[in-house]
Amino acid sequence: MVQVGIIGAGRIGRVHVESICTQVPEAQVKLLADPFMTEETAQWAKNMGVKAVTKDYKEILADPEIDAVLICSSTDTHSQISVEAIEAGKHVFCEKPIDHDIDKIKNVMDALEKHPVKYQVGFNRRFDHNFEAVQEAVASGKIGEPHVIKITSRDPEPPCAEYVKVSGGMFLDMTIHDFDMVRFLAGCNAEEIYVEAAVLVDPAIGEAGDVDTAVITLKMENGSIAVIDNSRKAVYGYDQRAEVFGSAGMAATGNDTASAAVISNAQGVTGEKPLHFFLERYMGAYVKEMKCFINAIVNDTETPLGVKDGLEPVRMGLAAKKSLEEHRPVKISEITV
Ligand SMILES: NC(=O)c1ccc[n+]([C@@H]2O[C@H](COP(=O)([O-])OP(=O)(O)OC[C@H]3O[C@@H](n4cnc5c(N)ncnc54)[C@H](O)[C@@H]3O)[C@@H](O)[C@H]2O)c1
Repeated sequence: MVQVGIIGAGRIGRVHVESICTQVPEAQVKLLADPFMTEETAQWAKNMGVKAVTKDYKEILADPEIDAVLICSSTDTHSQISVEAIEAGKHVFCEKPIDHDIDKIKNVMDALEKHPVKYQVGFNRRFDHNFEAVQEAVASGKIGEPHVIKITSRDPEPPCAEYVKVSGGMFLDMTIHDFDMVRFLAGCNAEEIYVEAAVLVDPAIGEAGDVDTAVITLKMENGSIAVIDNSRKAVYGYDQRAEVFGSAGMAATGNDTASAAVISNAQGVTGEKPLHFFLERYMGAYVKEMKCFINAIVNDTETPLGVKDGLEPVRMGLAAKKSLEEHRPVKISEITV
């Protein structure tokens, strides 16, 4: 049985607690840490089957019985806690992004060189059944050589301006998942990026120094061309689609809906809206990424995506910011490692 400590009992920390406690029989949550641990959270955790809670994550790192640590705290803590956990000999699952600062990600890489524990980054969309099927079609050659990759990624509602200020901006907070997805679908890294972006949803986002709408074009290393379109607000729900067009065909996926029913009547033909947001759309993916992480520990195999897969989307996000600021195409190599 893999003993797990979870750091951070917010939205995503709770998702992983629930996944492990209900769907991953090879693992057990021994300790859940959050400096703002409340009675209510402690009771919820106990009901889920978590053995104990604490306000101090260092108790997790000091516990010799804990094999693996899940870092689900706010982004500004990820790289530091990653290094501490790796040095304590724990396997690490770290939520995205590892950090906004390349040098701090390098510290994590250096720690992994010295202590080769398992390390997985939380790019959950790779484990979504729809995107997995598209990627499998591309990787197995069913559509020939990929030529054009299109990713649509729109949230149902914008975050508040307070969140925007600390999030690192849309490219490093939201689009980072799409940067991972484009690498996953293309099977290679991006070479160059160009961004057009605007504030069209909420002026408060602009006042907080960010954008809420973007079209991003990328040249990939295999010669394919990709386009990502982002919005912080799609009134019809969480819009998450992808298409890869190639020399021998196309692989595409639409949104997940609560049912596939289509209602036709005199007013028109209607169907369900997309599932509301990430907690609804990606629950299956969160469970699967956790099963893969625990499997890698149990079977001593590679994790499906490691620290380099955490680094590259951050480079792409920083290049996107630069492209917007300087209004020009930016080579990813300009963001030096
Ligand atoms: N993969 C995904 O789909 C996904 C979805 C949501 C969030 N995230 C990422 O997960 C992280 C957390 O996001 P969230 O939405 O759960 O935020 P949240 O604010 O709901 O939760 C963060 C929690 O971390 C706690 N925390 C802060 N510092 C801590 C520390 N030193 N030790 C222990 N706990 C600490 C906070 O008290 C809070 O309860 C972010 O980095 C975010 O980017 C990923």
